[in-house]
Amino acid sequence: MSITEFLDSVDIAHFSSPEEFWERLHGLPNKDSAVIARTIFEERQTGRVNPLHSSFFFQSIENTQFFHHVVSPYLNVLLQELDAIQLPPGDILELGSGAGVVACFLAQKYPEKTVVGIDLLPDVVATAKELAQLLGLSNVEFRQVEIAGLQLGKTFGCVLSVALREEMSSGRQGSFGYFSAIAELPHALTAKSSPLSQCVAQHLVAGGLYVSLERCHDVASIASWVGEMQSEGISPSLEHSKMLTFTGVLTGAEKMPLLLSSRTESHIDAESLLQWRMSGSNEMQSDELAVELRIYSQRAWRVVKATEFSIRDELGDAAVRVYLLECDREGLVYFATNRGAREIIFETSFGGAQILSNKFEHLLGELTYNPSVVDVHSITSL
Ligand SMILES: C[S@@+](CC[C@H](N)C(=O)[O-])C[C@H]1O[C@@H](n2cnc3c(N)ncnc32)[C@H](O)[C@@H]1O
Repeated sequence: MSITEFLDSVDIAHFSSPEEFWERLHGLPNKDSAVIARTIFEERQTGRVNPLHSSFFFQSIENTQFFHHVVSPYLNVLLQELDAIQLPPGDILELGSGAGVVACFLAQKYPEKTVVGIDLLPDVVATAKELAQLLGLSNVEFRQVEIAGLQLGKTFGCVLSVALREEMSSGRQGSFGYFSAIAELPHALTAKSSPLSQCVAQHLVAGGLYVSLERCHDVASIASWVGEMQSEGISPSLEHSKMLTFTGVLTGAEKMPLLLSSRTESHIDAESLLQWRMSGSNEMQSDELAVELRIYSQRAWRVVKATEFSIRDELGDAAVRVYLLECDREGLVYFATNRGAREIIFETSFGGAQILSNKFEHLLGELTYNPSVVDVHSITSL
């Protein structure tokens, strides 16, 4: 069965525009879904999504059909990639299998293998079982289990996780520094293991393949995810891994790393991860990365002034830093948050920081009166 035929059999809706989505949503009985979608998008900014919120979209086959392309638009691209990957021998385990679409796709592609899908929530598991039945698949099973501490007593040739880490993590990791997330890569790559990476290590057979598609928005977040795996003796093959781009009807273009990993002693270092992230010159790079690369350019930017704002808003506590930087005759006003935002607000190629001094002070004045700001202090040592 081709991917198109499979998707047709699952009947996942495809919307060509947000207007079309809103129009069709309007006809649905449950209007709360728009509010829940918004909550999920906001939670993703913090790197921590509540599974109870995302489960709304997997509570029934109808919800999955309607929302998959809207909230998690990776399906089409992911299935094409999975279709092209040569899987090693052995059964397949999907962690956080949701409504079971990915697990069912693999079950129909590999009738000789058993596919096991694990999910935390009973109604989500019920939807996945219903989908398997609808598709007439007898080699896929879904179990309601918590992944943290999971021990199935069996290893698998292939383990998968898709958009799971953000539901198991304690929040955004990686971009915890300010000046340059790229400069933090060596530190991020030594991240401690996590319940997810432990579970993968527990269930991946020697010579097996771990396929992950997790929401890591910037290179430092990718590094901390790789660090989590590496601390469990698992590491991606950068040669076989790639950044995928999806265009969701509400999310717009989004990038996520498809990492193909295995048990290995060798570790990825910061330089090769950065090179990999920048490779493919015609690839759309995020604005944050472009700014990061400018700051990271190995040039000696001098910090002339820096101020930190502690903020509290609907996403919780965070910190914002604004820097006035200088290098030779160039000057920059650089804005960074520990939620991963990176922006050059003003720049000059002559006269250095002096030229931007008034603009910098003006910006600080504006930010000070922002209602979310709870504390302001200038930074004297960095
Ligand atoms: C975003 S969904 C992805 C679903 C599926 N992989 C897909 O792409 O269609 C993540 C799933 O992981 C499940 N999940 C989150 N935390 C979990 C945990 N600690 N143990 C088991 N499942 C978990 C959620 O219930 C949710 O169904």
